[in-house]
Amino acid sequence: MLVFAASDKGGTGRSVTSANLAYQRALAGDHVAYVDFDFGSPTAAAVFDVPSAMRGTEERGLHSYLEGETAEPVRIDVWRQTEHPLLRARPNQSGRLVLFPGDAGGGEFATGEEGLERCIDLLLRLNGEFDLTVVDLSAGRSYAVDMVLAATAHPRMRNVPFRWLVFHRWTRQHVIAASGLVHKEHGIIGGGVERGHDEDTLRAAIRFVRAAVPDPESPLWSQGSPAQAAWMQACDEALRRLAAEHRIGDSVVLGVVPLEPILQWREQLITEEDVLATQIANKETLEALEEIARRLTDDSYWGRP
Ligand SMILES: Nc1ncnc2c1ncn2[C@@H]1O[C@H](COP(=O)(O)OP(=O)(O)OP(=O)(O)O)[C@@H](O)[C@H]1O
Ligand SMILES: [Mg+2]
Repeated sequence: MLVFAASDKGGTGRSVTSANLAYQRALAGDHVAYVDFDFGSPTAAAVFDVPSAMRGTEERGLHSYLEGETAEPVRIDVWRQTEHPLLRARPNQSGRLVLFPGDAGGGEFATGEEGLERCIDLLLRLNGEFDLTVVDLSAGRSYAVDMVLAATAHPRMRNVPFRWLVFHRWTRQHVIAASGLVHKEHGIIGGGVERGHDEDTLRAAIRFVRAAVPDPESPLWSQGSPAQAAWMQACDEALRRLAAEHRIGDSVVLGVVPLEPILQWREQLITEEDVLATQIANKETLEALEEIARRLTDDSYWGRP
């Protein structure tokens, strides 16, 4: 299965969250590929703690591949190449976790017919080789979004299952922006239909993930004044109404990731040790990531909205 990670704005939590989802699925035994199609800023390796590719690879990465300069984009075996000490001890039952980085110095670019064919070849190959392929897409209505909409509408990809996760923060601007990315005239649904997708099928394949959400009920906030608690509650409810009005309400949300200091500052994978041993991460955050990772392939969350 292919999972496209999109967001309208930058800095939404798209990479940090989707890398954690990839990690959770690999821990659960799936073979997982993480493809960095954030062409303007391919920094996903930082989240996996792979210093050699922090800002893209110096070898031939995804930019070189899509431009036809190499037949095979470079791969990073995360379990072996990460500097994260806990990740290097790959758990017994885990699946492969392979990062496909962009090129250092590569930028945004429009792909022509040949680039599109190469993109299709890559997605088909990865879908055959991995249980799950997570594709981190440049923010907004980007070339990357266009390319994968066109690729997945192509007859060669007719039988490849795909899903979309649209990440946004829990603020008014982000709610409106995420709704626009999906629902506005040439958004993911409209643009997808223009490229040959069936509207209902595409709509049913899209879910939203709210990232870095302060939970007014959480003990983290229990030290505040009653006035602050009531105010937070009111803001939360107002945002829920706004999201529902913009057709991104609870029924199309796959999960909510709490505001988490170690995601905020460390921008890395949360491990069980972070929660149980060093206790620097909140249990609720790890549970939220585990739950979203499970729901990713659970069909009961992917009926027709
Ligand atoms: N659950 C969270 N709680 C707190 N902070 C978070 C959380 N998730 C992400 N962040 C913070 O948000 C920032 C942006 O996250 P991330 O880089 O994943 O977003 P992005 O949408 O991929 O951004 P870009 O468009 O720059 O690629 C990170 O630097 C991290 O500090
Ligand atoms: Mg990112």
